Amino acid sequence: VAEIDLKALANNWSVLSGIQKSSSLTPVIKANAYGHGVAAFAQELQKMGAKRVAVALLEEAEELRRIGYKDPILVLGPFSTSDVPIAQSLGIIPMASDKQFLLNLGQKGFSGEIHVKWDTGMNRLGFAEADVTWLKETLRRFPQLRIQALGTHLLKGDDLGSSNGFSESQIQKFLRIESHFPEVQEKHIFNSDGFFANQMSGRLPFTYGSRPGLSLYGYSGVVSDATKKLKPVMTLKTKIVHLIDVKKGGTVSYNATWTAQRDSKIAILPIGYADGYPRILSNKGQVFVRGKVVPLVGTVCMDYLMIDVTDVEGADQGDDVELWGNNIPLEQIARAAGSITYELMTALTSRVPRMVLS
Ligand SMILES: Cc1ncc(COP(=O)(O)O)c(C=O)c1O
Repeated sequence: VAEIDLKALANNWSVLSGIQKSSSLTPVIKANAYGHGVAAFAQELQKMGAKRVAVALLEEAEELRRIGYKDPILVLGPFSTSDVPIAQSLGIIPMASDKQFLLNLGQKGFSGEIHVKWDTGMNRLGFAEADVTWLKETLRRFPQLRIQALGTHLLKGDDLGSSNGFSESQIQKFLRIESHFPEVQEKHIFNSDGFFANQMSGRLPFTYGSRPGLSLYGYSGVVSDATKKLKPVMTLKTKIVHLIDVKKGGTVSYNATWTAQRDSKIAILPIGYADGYPRILSNKGQVFVRGKVVPLVGTVCMDYLMIDVTDVEGADQGDDVELWGNNIPLEQIARAAGSITYELMTALTSRVPRMVLS
């Protein structure tokens, strides 16, 4: 089960909104709220005063409308021409990021506010600086498209504030671009790391808006007084389903990748790679049980993994085990897996029930 602690979400939101007024924060709840379950997140964010949310896909916006979310939804990624009428009926705000997409919106009669994404160095999605004139001329042809905001995405937000960082070069470019659109009041730049790095460096006023994702869920790559206050929202837990004694020299799990160096007590946990727990953590991961951190032993299976509880006094069937959360930092698990927090959270499959604690 993945326990989702809405108090931790409220805490993280108050860390963010204590730095920047909440109307300039667009929380990012794509990918099922980074694996946490989008319904509870959308509802809670609305209660806490978020004026809109952002997702990557039109399908994700559709899901939000289905569960009754009525506030504005910014769709960060492009969608196909045939979906423009759906976008219109859902009342979403598209983020236009290339010429063809903008033309499709215009020609298919999309009417309403749009945001414009600028590629200032990420080299992924976004208009180039050289497209400014084209964009202004094209928008004159489609007066029903109204630019509400300009945005860009930082490729390495944690270097914001360093004069020779990637962020500085992206900011310089963005400032040049925005000077061509004096009529557009709203701009959003910061992801979580950029947000906290900007707070520390004071590089830009927080009138520039933010699209925080990771920090909502309790994490940041930036170490600061503010990020130390973030709390993990998700705790991944399971229970011991079985225990076995393995004699010294015995092996555990597929391909005998672990051999007992002493007579050992091994606990079996009913979670595996089909739940999204990375197989690469075979013989590397750690879990928390009865107040102790203990290692994974043997190969992670599709439905099970094994831990060594020889040193855990009284370990028993039914004991709670934490795989990540307050006692096993997700960053540590992600590092051991050669991955990042984002990937582990979003990789949890639908087999793992999300249990919302309020
Ligand atoms: C365009 C855009 N904005 C904001 C975010 C949120 O970033 P983070 O989760 O690092 O805060 C993302 C995440 O990938 C993104 O793609």
